[in-house]
Amino acid sequence: MLAERTGPIQGPLLGYEGFTAFLLEATFFGVMLLGRDRAPPWFYFFSCCMVSLGTMLSSFWILCNNSWMQVPLGHVIVDGKFVPADWWAIVSGPIVRVRWPHMLLAAFLTTGMSIIATGAWYLLRGRQLAEARVMLRWGIALVAAIIPVQMFFGHVTGLYVLNYQPAKFAAIEARWTTQQPASEVLIAIPDPWTQRNLLAIEVPKLGSFIASGNWDAKEIGLEAYRPEDRPPVLIPFFGFRLMVGMGLIMLAVSWFGVWLRWRGKLDSTRWFLWAALLSFPTGFVAVLAGWFTAEVGRQPWVVYGLLRTKDAVTPSLATGDVVFSLLAYVAVYAVIYSFGFYYIYRLLRDGPAAAEEGRGDSTLARVPAVAMRTPPMIGG
Ligand code: HEM
Repeated sequence: MLAERTGPIQGPLLGYEGFTAFLLEATFFGVMLLGRDRAPPWFYFFSCCMVSLGTMLSSFWILCNNSWMQVPLGHVIVDGKFVPADWWAIVSGPIVRVRWPHMLLAAFLTTGMSIIATGAWYLLRGRQLAEARVMLRWGIALVAAIIPVQMFFGHVTGLYVLNYQPAKFAAIEARWTTQQPASEVLIAIPDPWTQRNLLAIEVPKLGSFIASGNWDAKEIGLEAYRPEDRPPVLIPFFGFRLMVGMGLIMLAVSWFGVWLRWRGKLDSTRWFLWAALLSFPTGFVAVLAGWFTAEVGRQPWVVYGLLRTKDAVTPSLATGDVVFSLLAYVAVYAVIYSFGFYYIYRLLRDGPAAAEEGRGDSTLARVPAVAMRTPPMIGG
């Protein structure tokens, strides 16, 4: 049903993703993986840039698509189908403009934290020291510069949720009743059965200030919505706090890293290197938590305000079919991810020096996992 009713909008958007992003990625990814010793350096660099551009374009089309589902605009309804009326509004509307940067920055931060952790790991093991220093310094600089910008975009993303999806906002805040002034629940265990927050730590009036910039503003609670229009609370509430918490860890690691670098103690502060290593999953956790917040919080709608998730399901689909396909996905991804994790672990464990010395297998030797040839140029 979803495809039938939203196809005229979602179909072209996903098609553009295929034309632009997949084409670039598929063409240049092979060069990036296997071409280090075979292609001229300028072409190798160009290929890496094209893969990067491809993934960014991909994220753009996906965010256009998803943002249209979050806040549908630029369409008309003809015979029950959503038909595009204004493509410009669909690909450059106010929601895409804040969500796409939030997603792009999330990807850069995830990469930055992985690079920081890898550099810290090598330093702790006393291996690949030149490359490790480059990774640590560049990773810390990248994350330290980007994280405040990400927090700004997180804030404006929150404002769009408040304006266009107030029920999701109330769920994120675990605000069961309308309050004036509204408190901010920092942490609690929301209980959907009694519609109360257990063990809550709250700051009076702060909820009004965060949402409206005014200490006494009235903020809508979930009670204002019919039960069938309310989203679940637990996942958006904890997902949001997990995402923000990960962002705060990134801020602490990167800014403290800058301070240590300035004091000339970055490479020798072992507890910091351990902290940097252990913070490697923060980006991945934040991205997943963010998406759970966005997607669960928009329930019970698949196209917000227009098409309910339960009405979007193919009528002939039985529960058994869904369980079977879900299990098949889980099984396939479990295999792919296991090999992927193992492969990446070996790349990192052996490091660039192994590749240069011809240790490791032939594929490892060619993979551009780290700056094999660049440290002297960048400064080591
Ligand atoms: C103060 C920090 C942050 C705030 C206030 C914030 C705010 C938000 C909000 C309100 C949403 C839900 C948007 C929706 O329902 O459409 C969201 C989603 C998301 N966030 Fe954050 N965020 C913050 C930090 C981060 C960090 C550090 C990352 C990753 C490194 C991140 C990654 C994401 C992702 C991937 C999504 C889902 C995509 C989207 O809806 O835009 N966020 N964020």
